[in-house]
Amino acid sequence: MSDTTERTATAFANPNIAFIKYWGNRDHELRIPASGSISMNLAGLETRTRVRFDSNLSADTLTLNGQPAAEAARARVARLLDRVREMAGTRARAEVVSANNFPTAAGIASSASAYAALALAASAAAGLALDEPALSRLARTGSGSACRSVPGGFVEWQAGTTHEDSYAFSIAPPDHWHLVDCVAVVSTRHKTTGSTHGHALAPTSPLQAARLEDAPRRLDICRQAILERDFEAFAEVVELDSNLMHAVMMTSSPRLLYWLPATLAVMRAVERWRAEGLSACYTIDAGPNVHVICLHEHHPEIVHRLKAIPGVEQVLTATPGGAARLLDEPAASNNPRSLQNLPGQYLRS
Ligand code: PMV
Repeated sequence: MSDTTERTATAFANPNIAFIKYWGNRDHELRIPASGSISMNLAGLETRTRVRFDSNLSADTLTLNGQPAAEAARARVARLLDRVREMAGTRARAEVVSANNFPTAAGIASSASAYAALALAASAAAGLALDEPALSRLARTGSGSACRSVPGGFVEWQAGTTHEDSYAFSIAPPDHWHLVDCVAVVSTRHKTTGSTHGHALAPTSPLQAARLEDAPRRLDICRQAILERDFEAFAEVVELDSNLMHAVMMTSSPRLLYWLPATLAVMRAVERWRAEGLSACYTIDAGPNVHVICLHEHHPEIVHRLKAIPGVEQVLTATPGGAARLLDEPAASNNPRSLQNLPGQYLRS
């Protein structure tokens, strides 16, 4: 890219929910994980990001949901832009405007969709045509789980040991299995310990080594259960994996305890419902909200029951989502403010 040109691209990505979790790094700088992970993209929840490289800018800027971002967030974005500049051979700074159509405080990992959309928009605006593995690697350097929001549907991140071999790929398309993620929101307060810090604490737990040693077995069971649409096997391994990650979190130094009383109430209820014959299981990320994964035919009943649990403030639902993609923008939307009012397309129950 010549430094005198001004180029813009806009990209779209969904967040994802991990069924086999990423917690702990082999390499913190490059975010190469200590083990592989498997996830599903979440359709209806989306981040849109526009990147404009302009040689007249003196610094990278970041606007998030219509507001100038905090310096730490801007600097993290600038580090990914530095990688793009290095690949494209340019020194031009960029204006980045990004918006989510889901409440950032709902405990849904917005960094995954944010860095997947940023990697795609920034590389395209810089004139690079990266293939899917290269985009996934680039997104990973911004936020590990973002590499899984680049491919579509059900996705596996092979841990790898180097920048080259640590990336995600699709193991099944979105329409392979009609699962629904019903997110029981029990708190919209921002988490106190972010995942970047949490990954660094993982090895301080005496349980992390056992969790990692068993990870290939869980990955095999989960991958197979998805491919065979075997909900019983899937439910067992998804809950086991979430409990193992939280056991590590709770036993690290300092310890991380993300659950609230309502978190446990939902976990207990889901166990009961499965025993009654409903196809549902729980998984929890670095926060108190519970993702209840169920078969599509059971989701109205699950949503109804979740809303009746004291402490559940709202339930968001999402179905399997596609890959990150570039958006063709009409010239009129070159105004960055057009990204501030994204349609709220997620299903708020
Ligand atoms: O990508 P990060 O650094 O925000 O880590 C994500 C960590 C979990 O959401 C807890 C698990 C996962 O695999 O998504």
